[in-house]
Amino acid sequence: MTILITGGAGFIGSNFILDWAAGSNEKIINLDKMTYAGNPDNLFHLNPEVYELVVGDICDPETVKNILEKHKPRAILNLAAESHVDRSIYAPAEFMTTNVMGTFNLLESSRAYYDTLTGPQKDRFRFLHVSTDEVFGSLEPADPPFSEESPYRPNSPYSASKAAADHLVRAYFKTYNLPVLTTNCSNNYGPRQFPEKFIPLLILNAAYGHSLPIYGDGLQVRDWIYVTDHCTAIRNVLQFGQPGETYNIGGQAEKNNLDVARAICQIIDQERPRDDGQSHAIQITHVTDRPGHDRRYAICGIKIDRKLGFTPRWSFEEGLAMTVDWYLNNPKWVERVRSGTYREWLDLHYGQKAPESQEKKL
Ligand code: NAD
Ligand code: DAU
Repeated sequence: MTILITGGAGFIGSNFILDWAAGSNEKIINLDKMTYAGNPDNLFHLNPEVYELVVGDICDPETVKNILEKHKPRAILNLAAESHVDRSIYAPAEFMTTNVMGTFNLLESSRAYYDTLTGPQKDRFRFLHVSTDEVFGSLEPADPPFSEESPYRPNSPYSASKAAADHLVRAYFKTYNLPVLTTNCSNNYGPRQFPEKFIPLLILNAAYGHSLPIYGDGLQVRDWIYVTDHCTAIRNVLQFGQPGETYNIGGQAEKNNLDVARAICQIIDQERPRDDGQSHAIQITHVTDRPGHDRRYAICGIKIDRKLGFTPRWSFEEGLAMTVDWYLNNPKWVERVRSGTYREWLDLHYGQKAPESQEKKL
């Protein structure tokens, strides 16, 4: 049997594929457009008998149709997306194309494919859509966490595009009986995350002696989940989830951004002390806030715990230590990512040139 994953060369997708390949011989096809966020270094060493990369766009009906006809997957896991909120504020169009129209195209192709299946193949087929807690909007400090029943109130072009995709997925279950599953997960962190996102950006900026940019007052709260816990939850939903249902996935680790920054600095203070003996926390710099910045996300994970037996394995402290360790000990991966277009992003967004001469080597 075979499964098809989209966006598998990105952060969560590559961690999912590595986990999957470690525990199963079932072949995995990865359809990935290889945008700036898709990284061939993540998966190059996998055995071609169990892993195949197809470089292509989820928006292209012919590409998707050909893969489905050739490989006849028992499941499709849709992770492909434009995923960075800040980029969606500068340039929202690509978010609509990939996140909305791409998901629509996958659903249409899956519907046509599903209609050709019969018997056990049809019973087994699943379309699993990986979404985000950001579709629910922002919580006040005393609000209860997001449940599966929380209303959709997206606030950024990114979250609005993910919300639109979620609605399409739901409609394909109600209208066409396509056996869909949707997951809404909180903030992931861990190895192989592109360092435009908060945690890897801070780890690398701390280690290289750059400032640690904190938007606004830094008291915004996120519920952090270690990426392999998210991957375990996705596997549980794929195996045991009820078609048509949605499942919230969280890390049971609500933290504000300043506390996350300080925790990162503490670990790096131990592993790579500054030459002047001060804490890396002196590099923390408050910068202009993100427009429409959501104040707090939090996830109620009761449904996935009770129905599918999932709770996260790693505490935030354990996960953060493993993550810092990974970035400090994979300088080749880091250097390849930090070259080229990544620098253009830093210049555009933070208005800073990465000053080579002042950089420390990892
Ligand atoms: P990422 O940006 O690291 O990776 C996205 C991948 O999708 C890349 O490999 C990219 O090349 C690929 N891609 C982009 N457009 C494509 C297209 N048109 N066709 C085919 N491939 C395309 O993202 P991530 O952080 O790994 O997130 C994966 C999924 O999980 C996304 O759907 C995201 O919305 C969701 N999610 C992410 C988080 C998080 O904290 N990172 C949390 C909850 C949900
Ligand atoms: O909640 C799930 C979502 O988490 C996913 O759907 C998104 O794909 C993922 O990018 C993430 O979105 P966030 O906007 O929460 O993540 P980001 O890493 O961009 O920011 C985390 C917090 O840190 C947020 O409050 C903004 C803040 N931040 C971020 C950056 C990049 C800063 O203070 N400074 C920064 O330089």
